[in-house]
Amino acid sequence: MELTRELTLFSCFESSNMDTFAPFKFKTVSLSRIKIHDKIFEPFISAEEIDKAVTVVAENITKKYRGKKPVFIGVLNGCFYFAADLMKKINFSCEISFVKVASYVGTQTTGNVRQLLGLDQKVSGRDVIIIEDIVDTGNTIEAVTEIITNMGASSVSVATLLMKPDVYDKKVKIDYVAIDIDPEFVVGYGLDYDGYGRNLNQLYVLSQAENLKSNEDMLNIVLFGPPGAGKGTQAIKLKEKYELVHLSTGDILRNEINNETELGTLAKSFMNKGELVPDEVVIDMIGNCLNEYRDAKGFIFDGFPRTTEQAQALDNLLEEHSTEIDTMLSLEVDDEELVDRIIKRGQESGREDDKNESVIFNRIITYNKKTAPLKSYYDEQGKYHAIAGVGSVDDVFERLTSSIKS
Ligand code: AP5
Repeated sequence: MELTRELTLFSCFESSNMDTFAPFKFKTVSLSRIKIHDKIFEPFISAEEIDKAVTVVAENITKKYRGKKPVFIGVLNGCFYFAADLMKKINFSCEISFVKVASYVGTQTTGNVRQLLGLDQKVSGRDVIIIEDIVDTGNTIEAVTEIITNMGASSVSVATLLMKPDVYDKKVKIDYVAIDIDPEFVVGYGLDYDGYGRNLNQLYVLSQAENLKSNEDMLNIVLFGPPGAGKGTQAIKLKEKYELVHLSTGDILRNEINNETELGTLAKSFMNKGELVPDEVVIDMIGNCLNEYRDAKGFIFDGFPRTTEQAQALDNLLEEHSTEIDTMLSLEVDDEELVDRIIKRGQESGREDDKNESVIFNRIITYNKKTAPLKSYYDEQGKYHAIAGVGSVDDVFERLTSSIKS
């Protein structure tokens, strides 16, 4: 079965109790945020918006320079996208050349000296339009303008894709600005972060929330165990004690089924047989929930991860949020007790996958085959803790909290 991207649209809610759910719909954002080196960037200015702004700059330049045969000088590396798109929209006769700006330390009196590399164009007596990707404090554009003026250009003007007016402190007039931005760090459309990101066809901005937030104090728990082990029961108590967000993939999927969504219909076909819903569906769900609860003090993952692929995906998602799993608490209950509990609950709750004994057995078999191996995954990271899941609910809770404390 092919899973379409639409299936990643789902109701993300924190699990608490079914009566208090406040589901809402939102579009997946986990796919649109990007990571470059250690930083997370969010979509900022779309390719369409950039195109419109570049068109306006091209029209204004055309009005002023038609018939004058100016020479455009692009300042590399960042200008390559803007220069290319701008030139496609300039429909009068002109020339274009590119330079790189090099700095070297001069004498005590000259200080930092800038020079242009690669200028193979005669600018003397010409109208020059400098193409920049971004102007912030203006150091570079001031130096480039001065050098070209000193080379005898009859006029020098500046066209920039981005301008940070709040930090610009030079006297050079910036004649054509496609887009004014706040003093933020952006990548894409020619601009880079430590060499990467230039090829993105839209602009992204550094996610302040992501990068400034210290997530070291978060408490992230994988509450693990077979069907009926008491994960949901204990998660409610842990959530209250530690003020955590409780994410139960089972609850989220059942909510989708109740709302008769496309995702719900898909999930039902697996859940009613006691099989696992495909990894990509649940991974997207959790990714969206993590984005939704960015200010959380931590998470209880209940029923997730259930496969090695899900566990690896969770590690990656948490890394993007500068956090990680602290502990994996595995509730251990023997199969006989599990079946008794689930059948009893099925009689009261009417949960579809609790009603049929063969489905219950298949859930336990699926757990043993696909999910239980995750104990080794977390054991290798020193995070696996087996907790006896029999006895009163309070006794089990006491064991869990003692384990968290230690
Ligand atoms: P999910 O909803 O996660 O169900 P489950 O893992 O089968 O777990 P249960 O809800 O049955 O049990 P629990 O451990 O939460 O125990 P509970 O506290 O309710 O998943 C359902 C389905 O969704 C899966 O089969 C799969 O198809 C799909 N799915 C979900 N996540 C997925 C994922 N990540 N990937 C792919 N597919 C996914 O307790 C059970 C009963 O025992 C209750 O009646 C309770 O009152 C009782 N009880 C609890 N503690 C005690 C105690 N100490 N003593 C006596 N009784 C107790």
